[in-house]
Amino acid sequence: MARQSAGTALRAWFGVEAVSRARARALNWRRVLILALACAAMSAGAADVPARAGIASAHPLATEAGYRILQQGGNAFDAAVTVAAVLAVVEPYSAGLGGGGFWLLHRAVDGKQVMVDARETAPAAVTLSMYVDDEGVPIPGATLLGGKAAGIPGVPAGMAHLVQRYGKLRMRQLLAPAIALARNGFNIDSRFARIAKVREQLLRGGTNTARTFLDNGNAPQQGYLLRQPELAATLERMAGQGRDGFYRGPVAQSLVNGVNAAGGVWQASDLAGYRIVERAPVRFSYRGATVVSAALPSSGGVTLAQTLNILEGYKIADARDPADAHLVIEALRRGFQDRLRYLGDSDFVKVPVAKLIDKAYAHSRAATINPNLATPIDALTITPLAAVTESYNTTHYSVIDADGNRVGATLSINSWFGGGLVAGDTGVLLNNEIDDFSLGAGLPNNYHLLGSKANFIAPRKRPLSSMSPTFVEDRKGALVIGAPGGSRIISMVLFGIIDYVNQDNVDLLSIVTAPRYHHQCWPDEVEIEPDSFSAAWRTALEEKGHHLRLVSRKWGNMQAVFKSSANGAAQAASDPRGFDMGGY
Ligand code: DON
Repeated sequence: MARQSAGTALRAWFGVEAVSRARARALNWRRVLILALACAAMSAGAADVPARAGIASAHPLATEAGYRILQQGGNAFDAAVTVAAVLAVVEPYSAGLGGGGFWLLHRAVDGKQVMVDARETAPAAVTLSMYVDDEGVPIPGATLLGGKAAGIPGVPAGMAHLVQRYGKLRMRQLLAPAIALARNGFNIDSRFARIAKVREQLLRGGTNTARTFLDNGNAPQQGYLLRQPELAATLERMAGQGRDGFYRGPVAQSLVNGVNAAGGVWQASDLAGYRIVERAPVRFSYRGATVVSAALPSSGGVTLAQTLNILEGYKIADARDPADAHLVIEALRRGFQDRLRYLGDSDFVKVPVAKLIDKAYAHSRAATINPNLATPIDALTITPLAAVTESYNTTHYSVIDADGNRVGATLSINSWFGGGLVAGDTGVLLNNEIDDFSLGAGLPNNYHLLGSKANFIAPRKRPLSSMSPTFVEDRKGALVIGAPGGSRIISMVLFGIIDYVNQDNVDLLSIVTAPRYHHQCWPDEVEIEPDSFSAAWRTALEEKGHHLRLVSRKWGNMQAVFKSSANGAAQAASDPRGFDMGGY
């Protein structure tokens, strides 16, 4: 049996393989080490036994809290609740109680795989006229700022669902680390400081955001002790009453009042009636591996299936080789073309999922790819480009426990600090996920994404998402992977799958750090990360007719864990972009 060194095992146990030096400094090593030693001492075979559990998240405090729950006898589902709660406190600009998302679960005891859909819903009183004028022109900011922008949150219900259906421990125990961090405070890291600076104007002008997140009216500096007593009190209510602590009673009343004072149309019944949906994940094969990914209302699984089905016919040995990159781009264009044509909340519209993910359909799509030339955009579709901003955020984390239970969770409030609205005295920062709906044909959202009727807004409907928590299972073992990044999530996870399948020996760090490019059909351009692709690479693609756009900063904050089927050893890796490279 392959053995890891003690150091590797401890790092793996703490999910910090991928941390760069800068990020390592950001970790509180002393605490991590003490806890690591405690865990190692507990495990029977001493420190050279491979770690059997792995957690990767966007924040070391969340990862650490998740490991503690495993150490206390919790399973991956328990740890997932704790990680989500701690992230809501320490990474509030990404996701939290005011947002939504998807938890992809694998239960080891019976192999059950399910997607817990905690996506936000549009409030029952929503109307299109809240967002567009009589001519159908979007009202600036309506889907992005304040009360109109906020969907009914799903994360608290999702957490309660995980506790009730899948966990072993009680909500109070699982929320304790988050409550302590919210009440006592934590020192913000460089990433928090950077993002708060970028969103300083929003935080100054938003509702209750200045007093919640700013330091005397200014973006806080790294090291600032951020206390969130109101959020602690809301978490306390959930600890005592489960989902009712959020969706009914004083917190719910305060949410409704706060959102409506900021222009929203929420009713108490929107919150009380919010429901989690358990959905069958999208499942398909790619070169001998089984891929399990997010179902509608996430476009992730369907678009990944379409794209990988197209690519399966070509042996993609290296997705960054220019010849292979051309094929990957052409496959992405076709996958995203169908995303905008067909995808939306399947509880509201009929989506031909079976056809879209069918291999025969992929063959017919692949037949339209010219190996030497980019397909002209007119042959694919579509309409004009509008100015967009780039300030979005989300979080992904991955968990595997010693028994092989798995959780991949992508959670979001959409933009950095959502729509700049903390409702009343709840401490809950609300999402601006309404922007993920399409307001009409040819009207792009914040991610430049177009949509069709399938994703038009309607009461209680869920906006189409790109969040793609994904499992890849093959003879090597099981990978849990995902990332934030709006529409780019899909291409990031696509690369993760391709790279993983191409590896004989899994190197998670290489998977989360590898360079990225992205195409989403419309606008007709290949976005590429800076400092990642050579002039020769760019020329090769331009000669095939692709329009390249060099983006000013790298993107993504991928979090991956892997468990080997050979020896049960777990690895975890965090994308260094999250801390070092200006990624999300
Ligand atoms: O659901 C979606 O697709 C988006 N609201 C996700 C936003 C996101 O990933 C932003 N992250 N950087």
